[in-house]
Amino acid sequence: MPELTWWQRGVIYQVYPRSFQDSNGDGIGDLAGVGARLEYLAALGVDAVWISPIYPSPMADFGYDVADYCNIDPIFGTLDDFQQLLDRAHALGLKVLLDFVPNHSSERHAWFEESRSSRDNPKRDWYLWRDPAPDGGPPNNWLSRMGGSAWQWDAHTGQYYYHAFLREQPDLNWRNPEVRRAMDEVLRFWLARGVDGFRVDVLWLLIKDAQFRDNPPNPAFTPGEPEHHRLLQTYTEDQPEVHEIVRSMRATLDEYGERVLIGEIYLPVPQLMRYYGASGDGANMPFNFQLLNAAWNAAGIGRIICDYDRALPEHAWPNWVLGNHDNPRVASRLGAAQARVAAVLLLTLRGTPTLYYGDEIGMTDSAIAPEQVRDPAELRQPGIGQGRDPERTPMQWDSSLPNAGFTSGRPWLPVNSTTSVASQSDDASSMLSLHRRLLSIRRSYAALVDGSIEHVTANGNVLTYERRSGTQRLLIALNMSAADAAVYLPPGIVLLSTIPGRDSGPITEGVDCLAGGEALIVRLG
Ligand code: GLC
Repeated sequence: MPELTWWQRGVIYQVYPRSFQDSNGDGIGDLAGVGARLEYLAALGVDAVWISPIYPSPMADFGYDVADYCNIDPIFGTLDDFQQLLDRAHALGLKVLLDFVPNHSSERHAWFEESRSSRDNPKRDWYLWRDPAPDGGPPNNWLSRMGGSAWQWDAHTGQYYYHAFLREQPDLNWRNPEVRRAMDEVLRFWLARGVDGFRVDVLWLLIKDAQFRDNPPNPAFTPGEPEHHRLLQTYTEDQPEVHEIVRSMRATLDEYGERVLIGEIYLPVPQLMRYYGASGDGANMPFNFQLLNAAWNAAGIGRIICDYDRALPEHAWPNWVLGNHDNPRVASRLGAAQARVAAVLLLTLRGTPTLYYGDEIGMTDSAIAPEQVRDPAELRQPGIGQGRDPERTPMQWDSSLPNAGFTSGRPWLPVNSTTSVASQSDDASSMLSLHRRLLSIRRSYAALVDGSIEHVTANGNVLTYERRSGTQRLLIALNMSAADAAVYLPPGIVLLSTIPGRDSGPITEGVDCLAGGEALIVRLG
């Protein structure tokens, strides 16, 4: 097996910067705050920090509406602050990944301001402008992922522009070579400063149908779903031409040595695999989101693992995601006990894990009162259960009231102070201690990093699999229910159990029962 690179060996940790650590009392996290917590991350045992967008932005979608791709929003700090953060991270052995948001800019980006200024502006074609339909309405039936038509009328120039998300987020025209060149320069701007890679926002949406054909109705639509699910996204996502763009991004990164290109892609596995590129020249890791909404049972998860492993092209490196800023938190989806089992799963599967900030202390979705809602997705489509504020609340650092060490000011989202890093630090049975041990075991056992995954077996509520590298063999057993489960595990050394007090020493007779919510790592042989 060829030597693995850092992003294959490592664990990625996602920081949602508004909510990680505030350093200046404005109630919003910032780069100095992230910098102050780098030692925590290094000690936790993660390898790379992906920071959600920090660029200048009107914050209509909290930074996913970028007004300048090559600068830092004053809320977060300055370019100098960023450079300091990067240097400090590197000194601690941590890599830093930025969020690259190429599908759309903010309507306040200078490019769009020029584009909308007149029909003959040289940047007109940098965005997607169309004439109205004969009845004066939108040019076609495409729907925004934030609700309503995806077309916004511009009275000044008498045309509509397309926005897959908010109307404040006009989509760029990736068929225009000038856009591609400009975005390539953006990548180079950050790569030259030493950034270790990018998570690319909505990579599968970059190219739209050249003929702007209507999307067909979705026969499986059920009322209550987000409105855009009324249509199949036949002409607005996963267009064949996107792969050439991914390849060119990758080629740019490759010029700078070992950098990583990760794609945010919500697609079924067969389509997802194509983003690795026909000859491994696409994204290094198209995010694998299957665990975010999988039914939590041994047979189902076992099938996901096997199908994914089988579908991977030969050159492709797997990866797994358990939580992010767009989905309910794992501890709320599964409950506290199974969130521990899920942590063992995430950190023992084959491939690079991505951990969402706060999941290492079992943060749960916070209750958000109507007047506290900030997420534009929720504000524009209230009540459809799309709100993302609950999983974006401030990191809970200590037991200080009212803001758990996040800010001395008024936090932008309410702080849930039920638990904290400080309260869990010295507690060997805590979620934080479990993560520290898992991450340390990952570092000590090559089988968990470069090993194969074998014998994935569901037996009732118990999922078992083996990780194997050379003569090293680790057995992972996960009881995915609250009930005790009879199961035979061969003799070995227990390296870890999620049940406090059961986690060390040899088992000479094997194990015949897992407690409810118990997950074990056993060294065999
Ligand atoms: C991605 C981001 C999400 C954002 C959207 C539009 O899905 O993860 O937070 O709202 O893109 O940029």
